[in-house]
Amino acid sequence: MSEMNAQGRTRPDRTREWQALAKHRAELGEVHLRQLFADDPRRAERYTLTVGDLYLDYSKHLVTDETLTLLRELAAAMDVAGLRDAMFRGEKINTTEGRAVLHTALRAPESAVVEVDGENVVPAVHAVLRKMQVFTDRILSGDWKGHTGKRIRNIVNIGIGGSDLGPAMAYEALRPYTHRDLTFRFVSNVDGADLHEAVRDLDAAETLFIVASKTFTTIETITNATSARNWLLDRLGAGEEAVAKHFVALSTNAEKVAEFGIDTANMFEFWDWVGGRYSFDSAIGLSLMIAIGPDRFREMLAGFHLVDEHFRTAPFEENAPVLLGLLGIWYGNFHGAQSHAVLPYSHYLSKFPAYLQQLDMESNGKSVDRDGTPVTWQTGPVVWGTPGTNGQHAYYQLIHQGTELIPADLLGFARPVEELEPRLAAQHDLLMANLFAQGQALAFGKTAEEVEAEGVPADLVPHKTFRGNHPTTTILANELSPSVLGQLIALYEHKVFVQGAIWNIDSFDQWGVELGKVLAKRVEPALTEGTAVPGLDASTASLVARYRAARGR
Ligand code: F6P
Repeated sequence: MSEMNAQGRTRPDRTREWQALAKHRAELGEVHLRQLFADDPRRAERYTLTVGDLYLDYSKHLVTDETLTLLRELAAAMDVAGLRDAMFRGEKINTTEGRAVLHTALRAPESAVVEVDGENVVPAVHAVLRKMQVFTDRILSGDWKGHTGKRIRNIVNIGIGGSDLGPAMAYEALRPYTHRDLTFRFVSNVDGADLHEAVRDLDAAETLFIVASKTFTTIETITNATSARNWLLDRLGAGEEAVAKHFVALSTNAEKVAEFGIDTANMFEFWDWVGGRYSFDSAIGLSLMIAIGPDRFREMLAGFHLVDEHFRTAPFEENAPVLLGLLGIWYGNFHGAQSHAVLPYSHYLSKFPAYLQQLDMESNGKSVDRDGTPVTWQTGPVVWGTPGTNGQHAYYQLIHQGTELIPADLLGFARPVEELEPRLAAQHDLLMANLFAQGQALAFGKTAEEVEAEGVPADLVPHKTFRGNHPTTTILANELSPSVLGQLIALYEHKVFVQGAIWNIDSFDQWGVELGKVLAKRVEPALTEGTAVPGLDASTASLVARYRAARGR
């Protein structure tokens, strides 16, 4: 039944295993979670997994043992394990860019050997980590001084996409572990307002800019970095010689860093086998290392590594990223779900869904397979979410009673952070009660009979009935430590990998972002100079004209 593409990989929807899942889906019909729990008194205990500090309850999913077996058979048919092993071995599985995919090497222990083109990359990874540590220690001790001799108290990371979202998200997530006497800001948007708000109350003499860009050609970052340099030199009334004490670069591109005017001695290197959205453990994490200190940073890397090893070695029955990936396939490809909600019941994880948006949607938002053939199966979902309980008072209505099926991850922690005063810490029970209540309500709903029994008038019964049967995974840990954050991110990274492998797409390129970049460069002179843009469509031309008129041009 299977049909191979030119690279010898199978089109998933042509496999026997896919057809078996489609048949199974039809047979299951609209089976309700109430029924599945009634059928198996041990379901809540059997459908759980523990990985490191993470406890996953996947009992509230529309699956049976047979579903899970069939999904694993699909993973086998698509050789997920083979592609995984090739990734860990450093093979160039990012075929459209001809690159290895080795973010896992960024958190490998120093004794590990991971070769790219015959060269072990692990020593270089650790050399950069040590260089980051030396620099961090100098900032934290006050040994590194700004141009005027003042110590650094403000750190501004300038980057976008993978060069922003990871450090910005993790800084929020690990705030209780951060040096509270330092100020951290993250600038990404080319909207001048972003840099303006980030620096307006800072003393330039105490400010360090970290320019984070894998390519060092990204227009937003280079524009903001140039403006930051001008701001600094203006404020200090200094010349170019001040740059060295206030700018460092994180990049793979030494030539462009030097061209920008940053001494390559102040550059922290990484490599083309680290994808932007997978780069947070590389030098891109420098701002976070300064924020939480090198020891905590290494704890976080160890958390990532723990899940890497789990993903690499655990049988698929017990493999958490494999399980999460397969559940997503089940809903996307066999239930027609188009989005996936990530709902952290932790204020500190407020930026986690945005981080996952890039990780997942830039990786798996593809419509041709590895061979370039259009896919005939749905690929990556829209990933979204905000922290609970806020979302409950906004969009949960649609999850509960709308017409969409939206699988969701509910993330929570048993302990509030230590530094909360007792009265605030006591609110944690209420927070977590909401998490558990939502999982329960989404899964089991409230039947019309139950509503009627409460004496609700007949005409209101349909409005107050909750169908339930909305699937969730609950992910719990004791606390949001650096290690747990690393474990969580790696869990999602590998989930995305599993799905990309099954969909037979290249999860590690992002050609879809290119066209907009090229067109923006072309349109900009039309805005500023009124230059004619050849081939500009009528709608865009009229928008440009309107913009110019509003700006008095
Ligand atoms: O435009 C998309 C992208 O290439 C992302 O993949 C990347 O994380 C981001 O831009 C930033 O790129 P860079 O780190 O090279 O500035």
